[in-house]
Amino acid sequence: MWKKQTVRDIAIKDKVVLLRADYNVPLERGKVVDDNRIFASLPTLRYLLAHDARQIVVISHLGRPEGRDKAFSLAPVAKRLNKLLGKPVKFYDGIGKMPSARIVMLENLRFNKGEEAGSVEFAKDLVAQTKADLFVQDAFGMVHRAHASMVAVAKLLPSVAGLLLESEVKAISEALDKPKRPLLAIIGGAKVEDKQPLIELFAKTADTVALGGRLGLDYAATTPNVVAPLDYNYNRAGEPYDIGEIATARIIDLIRSAKTIIWNGVVGKVEEMGFSKASRQIAEAIGDSRATSLILGGDTAGFVLGLQEREPSLKYTLISTGGGSALELILGKKMPGIDVLPDKK
Ligand code: 3PG
Repeated sequence: MWKKQTVRDIAIKDKVVLLRADYNVPLERGKVVDDNRIFASLPTLRYLLAHDARQIVVISHLGRPEGRDKAFSLAPVAKRLNKLLGKPVKFYDGIGKMPSARIVMLENLRFNKGEEAGSVEFAKDLVAQTKADLFVQDAFGMVHRAHASMVAVAKLLPSVAGLLLESEVKAISEALDKPKRPLLAIIGGAKVEDKQPLIELFAKTADTVALGGRLGLDYAATTPNVVAPLDYNYNRAGEPYDIGEIATARIIDLIRSAKTIIWNGVVGKVEEMGFSKASRQIAEAIGDSRATSLILGGDTAGFVLGLQEREPSLKYTLISTGGGSALELILGKKMPGIDVLPDKK
């Protein structure tokens, strides 16, 4: 159950807000190639602007650089945010004076070793440098990590959750705590060992667990509500690259009668020509259904977003921006970036 204070519970007017976003987005030749995470952060930014924050200083990490490395600069992200928000975003690489612009984006936090180490000194420097007087945590994709900008900063300033963090955690916990039934979990992917804990969890809580992808061949189902694919499509080398028509039809039938659907893991090698058919049909059936639907995991979310661009009529309750964080939340693991935030009064 969601019980944390959010931007709605605190005065914003005239504050300098330090906003932690998860802008860990893919770049190609210095350009953002998937801006979903940036787009998803707009409601919080708009809320802070509408409630007269004096300045918003946005912080994030990008990739896993070893020290300062231009290839991991957040400069292209600042540009894209500027475009999506329709407001100037001043990028600050840490050299010279901190800009006084209304919206400023700092350089990649991971250029400093203190970030991943969870350093209190680094957090203190961030607060001193920005003169922030309020911290807003909106990086849902990072809440499973205890990095400096996720925990130490929140201990130094009055802190609340942003609207993206709130909406993702609420959607996921509602679907888990009191799901409308039948609850169907579709779990795809290549390796059983990666998904074993998730399959075991849903074997206990879901009405049906439908497996897809290569893992369906390797999983030894011992629980009656776990169903493995009956057929596969193979590539020329005889490797199972997608689930077959019978398996797909069975999953679509289950989707049609489900009231809550949780999908993690595409069911074929969707990046290979001709092997995305089953995943597409499943995504379409979910997007056409009236069930509460959660799309979890980076690959699955990316696949569904790509399809939705071509078929905008498809609707989902949540296409999560969290990769690992959403799955760890489901598995009941510790969420340091959420736990540190104060509860509602
Ligand atoms: C993600 O993309 O899953 C988050 O931004 C976390 O990134 P990390 O796994 O490099 O910490």
